[in-house]
Parts: sequence; structure tokens; C-alpha cells
Amino acid sequence: PPLESLLNAHDFEVVAEHTATAKTWAFYSSAANDLITKDLNAALFRRLLFRPRVMRRVDKITTETNILGIPVSFPLMVSPAAMARLIHPDGELAIGRAAKAKSVVQCISNNASYSAAEIVSQPQVSEYPFFFQLYVDRQRHKSEALLRHIHQHKNIRGIFVTTDAAAAGKREADERVKADESIQNPMMTTKAKNDRRGGGYGRLMGNFIDPNLDWDDIAWLRSHTKLPLVLKGIMSADDVRLALDHGLEGVVLSNHGGRNLDTSPPGLLVLLEIHARFPEIITQHHPRSEAVRSGQARPFSIFVDGGIRRGTDILKLVCLGAVAAGIGRPALFATGYGQDGVEQLIDILKDEFEVAMRNNGITSIDECSPEYLNTGAIDKWVVKQRDHPYAVH
Ligand code: FNR
Repeated sequence: PPLESLLNAHDFEVVAEHTATAKTWAFYSSAANDLITKDLNAALFRRLLFRPRVMRRVDKITTETNILGIPVSFPLMVSPAAMARLIHPDGELAIGRAAKAKSVVQCISNNASYSAAEIVSQPQVSEYPFFFQLYVDRQRHKSEALLRHIHQHKNIRGIFVTTDAAAAGKREADERVKADESIQNPMMTTKAKNDRRGGGYGRLMGNFIDPNLDWDDIAWLRSHTKLPLVLKGIMSADDVRLALDHGLEGVVLSNHGGRNLDTSPPGLLVLLEIHARFPEIITQHHPRSEAVRSGQARPFSIFVDGGIRRGTDILKLVCLGAVAAGIGRPALFATGYGQDGVEQLIDILKDEFEVAMRNNGITSIDECSPEYLNTGAIDKWVVKQRDHPYAVH
């Protein structure tokens, strides 16, 4: 169907289902086990309601903000996703160009089908900022070499280390379709090889990822990069607290789009748990908080991804203190139409975001706050306190 006829993120998904190859669809759309987390990521947004304010002069509004110091047109990040070339020959190159054209940030996957150098040095994106996502390799010297390669590109402004892939998720839809063994992504160190358990790309290609990463490795990472460091794949308020205490610049509350641990919690729920248990992480350390502005506290940026399909979802997260919302699958599906498709998807989400701001009586990102939300329907899910005297760590 013509691109103009697509009206929302769901439309891009439906088109991809009917046009991508069976393997591409299986790899992109699949998730772990029974898809409970994948489905809940999106479903939880439906239970969180706005508490809109009216009569507020909302003709002129601004959605501009910044993410780790990078000015953006609205609080959106394209989350890192492997192998965008499966759906279009331009793959991640197209996503990068669209991100620049629409002033949002692309976080390039460690497993992208183009090298980071190819993506960030295209003439169309020259000097535009990017982030890079790292999977720490079992052979640490390989990650060190990759970071040196990344540092050659001054427009890469942050390293997102993915922490939620200690073991490969059981993605059965992907296992059922044979993998193309000729595929080799430039920055990853293993290649797909079908085996007795099936053809799941994530499992077959992910075994270079080090399951022994731990909090002491933050010092090792720091010794190999001066860029802001963000941990991606954080799924508990306790680990957010640890990330802050270990001096990281931020976290992505994410369960990998439900692809690794089924029944892990949506980032939205973890964000509510931070409010319940460690509110100071947001009240004191949000980059726009009074304490940070006055130099009394260190900025700490919280990103969320998983199931974000509407501008309303993005606004809810920003009202709860997220600096940006990430999209994974929707950007891959839109890449089916190349750069134009990704631009159109970003435009759609931005339009929806603006409509939601106006109808809530919000005129700038600074005004966003939890007051605009009614969390009643999910409050009973939120863990307010944890005390397990018998547990040993
Ligand atoms: C991913 N994701 C991912 N994350 C990461 O840190 N490194 C990676 O290489 C990949 N690769 C990847 C491939 C595909 C096909 C998907 C769908 C996802 C996870 C991604 O960054 C993000 O967390 C989720 O996709 C967010 O959920 P939604 O938006 O897909 O629901």
C-alpha cells in the first residue's frame, strides 16, 4: 500500500507482516515463550489514564527537549535493533537519515547490518549525533576494539550497554523458520548456524554476549570510554538505584521488547516503582529538576522502551519523568519503506504527541508531571516496599 495511506504505527506492522519474508517477520515480531511480556508492554499503557486540564491556551506549544544534551524535536529515541537490512536494502542507513531529518536520536545496535562507521559517516547525516549500543563480548578485547572504532566518530555521543541478554530468550516463532546462514553483521562476532533447536537468530548469533557482566565492570567500561554510559535492559527499581550509585548517566527501563525473559515487567511498571520506592531518583536527579539545575545533584536520565505505539504512550512516560521513549519494532517495520517510511512514522508519533499535549493542557516538556496521570488501575501492581531478610546476594 502507498505510504500516504498508513496512519499509525499499527499500520506499518500490518504491512510488514504481509510484505516481509517469513524469516524477517519471524525475527522482528517474535518474543520469548508465551509473549506475555511483549503483549503486556503495550497493554499496560492502555490502563494508565490521563487527568487532563482544559481551558489553558494551548494553540502554541513546544515539544522540543534534549536527550543527554542532544537537542531533539520531541522525546523520541529509535532503540537499537539488529539487522534492519532484512526488510530494506538501506536498513540502518535509512533510519539514521530519517532520525536526522526529523531531529530525533538513533541508537545504533551492536548487531546492526551496517557498521556504525557506515551509518554515521553518510554525507546526509554528517555531524548529526548518534548513540551506540554495546553487547559486552565474552572476549573483552573485542569490545575494547569496538569502542575504539566507535570513538573515531565524534558524533557518537553515548554508549548504551545492554544488560538484559545474559541468556538468549526462547523465541519460538523465530526458531521455527530456518536462519539464513550467509548473514554476517559487521560488528558482531558470531554467525548464524541452524541447529537441532531451530533457526532463531537471537540465539544463534548472540552467544558472544558475556553472561558474566557485573557491577564491577562499570569501572572497566569507564576505563575504555569517556562517553556517557547508560545501562539498557533494567527491569527493577533496585537496579536503577544501583546504576545511579555506580555513577552511570542513565538507564533504559526495558525488557528487550519481551524477547528475553517472559513475564518480566514493562518499563512503565518499573518507572512507577521508582516513584513508589526511590522517588528522589526522579525528584532530585531528573536532568530538569531544581536540584540538578542548581548544581546540587547529578543528572540521571531514564529512558523507557517496549510497546510504545502512540504519542499518548510517549507523553505518559514523559509525565512520569522519562527523558525519552524508545521504539524498536515500529522503526524496523517502517524501514520497509526506506527513509521515507521512518520519517512518516516519526511524524505520526510527533503529531499524536502534540495532540495529546494540547488536550491535556500541557504546552511544553517542562510542564509534564505525574499530575496529568491517573494510575489507579495499575497501582495495585506497584511494589512499594521490598524486604527479604532471608535472601542472600
Ligand atoms: C531488538 N532489541 C535490541 N536491543 C539491543 O539492545 N540490541 C539489539 O541488537 C537489539 N536487537 C533487536 C532486534 C529486534 C528485531 C527487536 C524487535 C528488538 C530490543 C530493542 O532495543 C527494544 O528494547 C525493543 O524492541 C522495544 O520494544 P518494541 O518497541 O519493539 O515493542
